[in-house]
Amino acid sequence: MGFKKDFLWGGATAANQYEGFPLEGGGAFATADVMTNGSHTVRRQVTWKKENGETGSTPLCFGSPERHLPEGAVPVALDDPKYYYPGHIASDGYHHYAEDIALMAEMGFKSYRFSVKWSRVFPDPWGEPSEEGLKYYENVARECKEHGIEPLITLHHYETPLILAQKCNGWEGKECVDLFVKYATTMFTRLKGLVKYYLTFNEINCIDAAPFVTAGLIHAEPQQILNAAFNQFLASSLTVKAAHENFPEIKVGMMLAYGPCYGLTADPADQLAARKAEDHTLYYSDVQMLGRIPTYMYKEWEKKGLKRPLTDDEMKIVEKYTCDFLSFSCYGSSVLTCHLEGTQAGSGNGGAFGRVANPYLKTNAWGWATDPQCLRIALNVFNNRYHCPLWCVENGIGWNDAYENGTVHDDYRIDYMRQNIQSMKDAVDEDGIDLMGYLYWGCIDVVSNGEGEMAKRYGHVYVDADNLGKGTFARSRKDSFFWYQKVIKSNGEELD
Ligand code: BG6
Repeated sequence: MGFKKDFLWGGATAANQYEGFPLEGGGAFATADVMTNGSHTVRRQVTWKKENGETGSTPLCFGSPERHLPEGAVPVALDDPKYYYPGHIASDGYHHYAEDIALMAEMGFKSYRFSVKWSRVFPDPWGEPSEEGLKYYENVARECKEHGIEPLITLHHYETPLILAQKCNGWEGKECVDLFVKYATTMFTRLKGLVKYYLTFNEINCIDAAPFVTAGLIHAEPQQILNAAFNQFLASSLTVKAAHENFPEIKVGMMLAYGPCYGLTADPADQLAARKAEDHTLYYSDVQMLGRIPTYMYKEWEKKGLKRPLTDDEMKIVEKYTCDFLSFSCYGSSVLTCHLEGTQAGSGNGGAFGRVANPYLKTNAWGWATDPQCLRIALNVFNNRYHCPLWCVENGIGWNDAYENGTVHDDYRIDYMRQNIQSMKDAVDEDGIDLMGYLYWGCIDVVSNGEGEMAKRYGHVYVDADNLGKGTFARSRKDSFFWYQKVIKSNGEELD
């Protein structure tokens, strides 16, 4: 009973939300570095410039239906005080990583997931790697190892070298595939003996919701999104191939954003809609874990007049080189219904399906619901469908923490974690699921991805910085730091 002895407890961050200072050490900007700050009421913008010197911004990020920059515009960081780019400073992890890893070790972390900024390692993706970029990530990995922490590297976490967005519409460009594999193998070679776990693309299924964020698309018609998704599938498979053939000690995982989707009522139409929504998510893991495109996707493409992008030979690679394990993020769940009368989603929806609040669950200020069963459900879905090793690499709750007298009393975060860890424990104890580990998202406060603000904090460690990057960047332990320390020490037995 209980979690296995070598269970990988820990936390996760991503370069564009944590490191800051993208140009330091000779690095170059990535797509995330041209995204402005926002909030839950103000959308993040992507800034751009045209050849005639005209500049502006367009909301191409999560939560926006916008799919194009204006014709002739390319994404750039503008030197204009009107725009603030949170990724340029973030949590200043670039200069604080050693202190942060020591704090993680104090909590008892067994694993730390961080992402590599491709444009820091390859400022010119067609050129040679930057020694300073490589050295930085080698230092981070070494620091982990010295503290007995197993690194897990995400090779692509919501940022693509900016030049690829400018030159070939990001991942719509086939050249991204070989450039990515070159970058991945450069990392495998440099970090040989230090890092054994890698993930290819963070939340690969979010490409429909945010094609610029996930794949650098500045023009994102449905066919362009599909082409980009398949280029990422191919790049992921070629990365797996490179690892298996030349670095047999390395395990390459995929990463899916997943939350159970419930039908609001017992009306079969609601249940079918919820199932279909989940199927759409699971198609990404079917391709990456089974090497198979589900039949319903062919039908969907046919209806929309879309063509399957890869050649038969390329598809053979995708089919053959599937990932070694499935990792996923899971924060909560969502609810679908066609009975929208009287709901917020009902207004102006013309009787279609819409997402509504779950009357049984509590939400945070950003509307994210805490679902005490979500991890158990997620783990059962994956286990039943893929029968493969599973790793929860993101779970957590964002909160506008009140910092007082050197700490934060974040009992709401402890409650959230207690319920989620219990749910995971039930999946292990009651359902017999073999789980590799649990990594809490944003263990050190980072800039939120959706809103680009610091106010939505997830961490066990508070970072003294505001929404505009002002502050001392000093680190302080929150109450949840000590709680999580106790949980890890007891291998998940003490959750009180
Ligand atoms: C996941 C992403 O979707 O959710 C992270 O992989 C992100 O990058 C996290 O930060 C939480 O979302 P947000 O928008 O609150 O930062």
